[in-house]
Amino acid sequence: MCQTKLHEFLQGLPKCEHHLHLEGCMTPQLIFQLAERNGVKLPDPETNPAYESIETLTRRYGHFTSLDDFLSFYFQGMSVLLHESDFTDLAFAYFKKAHEDGVHHAEVFFDPQVHQQRGIAYETIVSGFVAGCKKAEQELGLSTRLIMCFVRHLPVDSAQKLYEEALAYNHFENGTLHGLGWSSSEVGPPKDMYREQYASASAKGIPLTAHAGEEGDPTYISTALELGAQRIDHGIRLVEDPELMERIVHEEILLTVCPLSNVRLRCVSALDEVPIRKFLDAGVKFSINSDDPAYFGGYILDNYCAVQEAFQLSFREWRAIAENSVSGSWVSEERKKELLGRIDEHVRKYEVEA
Ligand code: HPA
Ligand code: ZN
Repeated sequence: MCQTKLHEFLQGLPKCEHHLHLEGCMTPQLIFQLAERNGVKLPDPETNPAYESIETLTRRYGHFTSLDDFLSFYFQGMSVLLHESDFTDLAFAYFKKAHEDGVHHAEVFFDPQVHQQRGIAYETIVSGFVAGCKKAEQELGLSTRLIMCFVRHLPVDSAQKLYEEALAYNHFENGTLHGLGWSSSEVGPPKDMYREQYASASAKGIPLTAHAGEEGDPTYISTALELGAQRIDHGIRLVEDPELMERIVHEEILLTVCPLSNVRLRCVSALDEVPIRKFLDAGVKFSINSDDPAYFGGYILDNYCAVQEAFQLSFREWRAIAENSVSGSWVSEERKKELLGRIDEHVRKYEVEA
């Protein structure tokens, strides 16, 4: 448990998570277990000593040097997922942990192109994750949303093919998928590589988000907005462009900030460099998220507690963060009202005690 006096308050505070890669929930234990069960060969420890054991892999996760260094482990980790039930179990294990951490609504990413590249069918991936979401809704009372991500290290053609496949299944219209995002390597590939796909999706009214301003400068954020992104994933480098920051405040664009991820990937050198205070002071709306909890040393509550330890926020500030997380969610007005009511009820208990 963390050292903050607010731990119990933070645990019970009704949360929304908007930045969580389901494949980022592959713990070293699960990677070794599924590799064995599914007969998938992990890298030879002779050439990559991190794969010697669960312990050595866990230790290696403490020393990522950059986003791309992390991504090489992340793509390797997901290679042990073969069957629909593997995807379901992975998703449900995340939702169970999120529920324990006080998450009431979760919008989660997945990266089909990477699985397709190693021969897994779109239907296997989507049906598996959908079953995990349904189980979480029924057994835990969570509301969930699946957001499909394009990955920037693969050619645009493969994203276009995936997009067409999702459209052919009517998956955006029938509620199977709720939005589109992009992720993976930021600096390197063209900033606007999904211009065509985002224009098409915008015209269809598909909600759009994009990883931007994590390692890349603020022009990655402005390009994402130009292409139609309604939310920005990470976005911490926004503070380098005050004019763009004003626009984001004015347009009430939500940033999905991931503090422990930023530290582990060396986007900042310590947690107090994540611009939480600057965003609060400027009126930038943001939510706090775990990104890839199995790789970055913590789930959502660990991120809330780490922020509290670094910034000593007040009940009122936490209330605003929780409320902004609800208003930036891709759910019905009715569900938003319900979630806001739960936050109000929770905060009141503590304000009376304070
Ligand atoms: N950034 C970009 N792509 C990702 C990340 C991230 O933090 N996590 C998983 N894919
Ligand atoms: Zn991410």
